[in-house]
Amino acid sequence: MKSYDVAVIGGDGTGPEVVREAIKVLDVASKKFDLKLNYTHFDFGGDRYLRTKEVLPDSAVDDLRKFPVVLLGAIGHPDVKPGILEKGILLRLRFELEQYINLRPVKLYDERFCPLKDKGPKEIDFVVVRENNEGLYTGSGGFVFKGTPNEIAIQESVNTRRGVERCLRYAFDYTRKRNKDKKLMLCGKTNVLTYAFDLWERAFHEIGQKDYPDIKREYAHVDATTMWFVKNPEWFDVIVTDNMFGDIITDLGAMIQGGMGIAAGGNINPQGTSMFEPIGGSAPKYTGKNVINPLAAICAGGLMLDFLGDRESAEAPKKAAAAIETAVIKTVREKLKTLAAGKMGYGTKEVGDLVAAAV
Ligand code: IPM
Ligand code: MN
Repeated sequence: MKSYDVAVIGGDGTGPEVVREAIKVLDVASKKFDLKLNYTHFDFGGDRYLRTKEVLPDSAVDDLRKFPVVLLGAIGHPDVKPGILEKGILLRLRFELEQYINLRPVKLYDERFCPLKDKGPKEIDFVVVRENNEGLYTGSGGFVFKGTPNEIAIQESVNTRRGVERCLRYAFDYTRKRNKDKKLMLCGKTNVLTYAFDLWERAFHEIGQKDYPDIKREYAHVDATTMWFVKNPEWFDVIVTDNMFGDIITDLGAMIQGGMGIAAGGNINPQGTSMFEPIGGSAPKYTGKNVINPLAAICAGGLMLDFLGDRESAEAPKKAAAAIETAVIKTVREKLKTLAAGKMGYGTKEVGDLVAAAV
């Protein structure tokens, strides 16, 4: 039997409770496909920070590096100033583990949960490949004359040819493997960000023309992209974009796929340690109430197995991932009233049980 090591960071708020349900489902799916997951839990998050005054211990990154995958609940604590945990844990891990891709599927499982008129699962099924290590997220910039009337704040978007190229290549490969419309759209802002997206656009066409002639290339500005998410989501197959735009458009993506309760993503280093998470945050007001929707975390677990299958060239994890998705679809369509916390018709644990049973 093949076994895989999984690092688990439950994190803050509702993170631990949704991760518990994800593990419940992962274990059932693993057993069915004859594989085993060995979990090691880490207590990183707001509570640990408030207790120890240390955001991440020095050993953390090297400890996590030993794992092929990390399953993350949520980071964000109401008693900690915004930015400290996000930067100190989430962004630090994304950067230091070189998870240079943030993969965010936007897939609607049941048309009852889509806020768009006349759009259903056939129309809403695309993937956003968000660059995850550069852009406005590097922390490059600073203040001049801080606190005076002449204050200047500069926050720079960093775009390296290497960083852009590896992201684009991942997106082209992904589009080929996905094999839907074989269409990759670059989402940018070439009419204003004439340096950053000039580099992106040149690299996009050079790489596409040379190495991916089978993939259709399209371009759209980010503002137009948000309009089409609402108006014509069926136009999209795979979208590649920078870190900031990817952050913004995937929240809109989450809404059209039914909300934060179902949206999952992977922070991917194809050769290294990748980290999978529900993208909704820690939702502190629902903590411990058994009302939060665990499906996003369960879907993150599915993405994690799918990634393990690719990374280890193994069939079983990919089959287990597909079984989880099928079970989620069945549960969503046949059982749940809504995907929102407290309004599902079932509690957090019960939804986990339903998916586990469907697997
Ligand atoms: C996300 C989140 C993070 C981001 C925050 C919490 C730093 O919004 O994963 O999309 O901006 O990347
Ligand atoms: Mn975000």
